[in-house]
Amino acid sequence: MLPKRHLDINNPKFVYNPYPFLAGLRETLPIFYDEEWQKVWVLRYGDIATLLKDRRLGRQILHVMTREELGWPPPNPAQAPFDYFQSKHMLDREPPDHTRLKTLVMKAFTPQRVEALHQQIQQIINELLDKVEPIGKMDLLHDLAEPLPVTVIAELLGIPEKDRHKLRPWSAAIVKLYELGYTDAQVHAGSKAVIAFSDYIRNLAEERRTHPEDDLISALVAVEEQGEKLTEDELIANCILLLNAGHEATVNAITGGMLTLFRHPEQKQELTRAAADSATGTALFKSAVEELLRHDTPLPMFERWVLQDFEYKGIALKRGMEVGLMFASGNRDPRRFERPDELVLTRKDNAHFTFSLGTHYCLGAPLARLELQLVFQTLLRRFPKIRLATDADRLEYGGFVIRGLRSLPVVF
Ligand code: HEM
Repeated sequence: MLPKRHLDINNPKFVYNPYPFLAGLRETLPIFYDEEWQKVWVLRYGDIATLLKDRRLGRQILHVMTREELGWPPPNPAQAPFDYFQSKHMLDREPPDHTRLKTLVMKAFTPQRVEALHQQIQQIINELLDKVEPIGKMDLLHDLAEPLPVTVIAELLGIPEKDRHKLRPWSAAIVKLYELGYTDAQVHAGSKAVIAFSDYIRNLAEERRTHPEDDLISALVAVEEQGEKLTEDELIANCILLLNAGHEATVNAITGGMLTLFRHPEQKQELTRAAADSATGTALFKSAVEELLRHDTPLPMFERWVLQDFEYKGIALKRGMEVGLMFASGNRDPRRFERPDELVLTRKDNAHFTFSLGTHYCLGAPLARLELQLVFQTLLRRFPKIRLATDADRLEYGGFVIRGLRSLPVVF
């Protein structure tokens, strides 16, 4: 029997601090059906890990069932550009297509390419901090967390500097459509952004085809594996995915991580001391980044579709059901993590879900880790007295699925 319960994930109080509520549910109702969202929620670490690895679940459903079978209304024409883009990028494809796309993109997105960005990332952080240093305060979101990842991913892809200001608004409009319960206005804005963004990447890819440069778009245009190429639309959709995935979560991980440190003054002090000594500091920052990503999960929930009927722990999962895997809850499960609500910067056994697990494991995890290490280390080294300039209770988040602060005022 599948118990029923509604999870009001858009309630601002829940979004602000979902952890105590999730902890209660994790003990009493670890798997339940939510009629309102038409989703089975899964809250325990072990269940999430098992289901992420189970190929009877996938990120897509329309390749095995029709809309009529699913009881869905006809597609909203206003959403067609977004749906088309989704259908072409790796995150919403299943093997073997997913394998082909991921292999091709990974061929261009090499560890060497990421490591080569080290100096550039450091320079971007330094320049952003140089601007605010004389003022002694900043909005950590607008002045640092937002511009850093988008500049990094733009550098990586090879987006010219003069066009970079367009990327963040496009991306912000598109990712709104990943929230549950979006509005018609958001559908229009998201689709408009997909069209503008696609046209832009199409022109840039065309230019790189004739005049290749040392950037990821040129590498993707050139990439070929066992005679398989990316089609033009796949190339565009995956570049947009890289831009969206490559910075939205990183923005939220930077602000979320710093807020966690403000709430844990002792740990912040320990990191500040380590930041001053770059030789011994880096190791601590590496484990601290993992712990900050576990403790406050920037993307708290991902979904999977049931592709065929099967029984899980006595629960009948039917083809066409949607399952919401609550990473934020798994990351705080005491069955897996010792003292899960504590922030332990040196935590060793830290296999969190923040970058997922299995087929869709985050392709950009090494880049995200590098950015986070450098940004936390540089911030605490240059501004050792940095602190929150407002009451933490007054801070607000933009949504749950992509859980990011709307601002983070600090003084230093
Ligand atoms: C803190 C930052 C980040 C977090 C928390 C994050 C998280 C995730 C998660 C959870 C998934 C898998 C979703 C699922 O299983 O359904 C994913 C996939 C992905 N991420 Fe990230 N990500 C981050 C940064 C990045 C960066 C910097 C890039 C690229 C430059 C990136 C590119 C991707 C791509 C391409 C996928 C799709 C992989 C696939 O379908 O196989 N991400 N990310």
